[in-house]
Amino acid sequence: MTQISLIKLGGSVITVKDRALTPNIKSIEELSRVFAKCGDPLIVIHGGGSFGHYWSVKYDMHTKPELYDPRGISVVHESMVALNQIIVKSMSDAGLAPYGISPISFFEDGKVNVTKFNELVEFTRRGIVPVIFGDMVHIREGRFSIVSGDSLMTRVATHLMPSRVIFTVNVDGIYKDMKNKKLVKVLNFPTSDISFKDSSIDVTGGMGRKISEAFEIARLGIDVNIVNGLDAERVFDILRGVEAKGTLIPAISNKGGG
Ligand code: IPE
Repeated sequence: MTQISLIKLGGSVITVKDRALTPNIKSIEELSRVFAKCGDPLIVIHGGGSFGHYWSVKYDMHTKPELYDPRGISVVHESMVALNQIIVKSMSDAGLAPYGISPISFFEDGKVNVTKFNELVEFTRRGIVPVIFGDMVHIREGRFSIVSGDSLMTRVATHLMPSRVIFTVNVDGIYKDMKNKKLVKVLNFPTSDISFKDSSIDVTGGMGRKISEAFEIARLGIDVNIVNGLDAERVFDILRGVEAKGTLIPAISNKGGG
């Protein structure tokens, strides 16, 4: 295991999801301050929210490789770069040394380039915080696909085995169901006790997809925290190993039927 905290900034935390192309500056700044305060080696991955998702819905683009409209490919990527710049600037203002990275550099001939993932450790050793974003990426033969921030979390976790993994969302964690909003504090695998419908416009899979990525990371033997990123103090607590309101998906041991 590497002493790195891997954290996903959900699109619903860093953008105002129902207002096109609107960053949530307050939340970005509070999280940047928390990251600076915690001082641990960190890798940040962020989603698209009202930037990338807005355009991927407009151009009907998904996570499978297709010959999508070139204007759509361009504008999704550009909007993600723009959002990344806002986050990088905020982290830089907080005193950190962030470095924006498109996942295009992690793929070669449609395959994962392991060396590029491993390089991220060197970044953190130099005190640099990689800030990777979900993006529109070329897969093969002119076919592009959205690589979501959630799937990047699993890939980075698989290659680097970080000691802490956190998904930030705009709710308090995983709810038993959306009606009662009863928080599930510990979610064990396999799960039968949650039911939810995701009503968002999310083209990359919403909360269900997030949970399955989280289970995959837990299967590596790493605890996964799902926490409300709109309350930066909770994120700070998790980063420094203090319990906070949220959902814990405990590491699944090999013997444990995972
Ligand atoms: C989506 O990443 C990236 C694009 C749409 C290009 P995510 O799917 O991880 O984004 P959020 O966190 O759900 O907004």
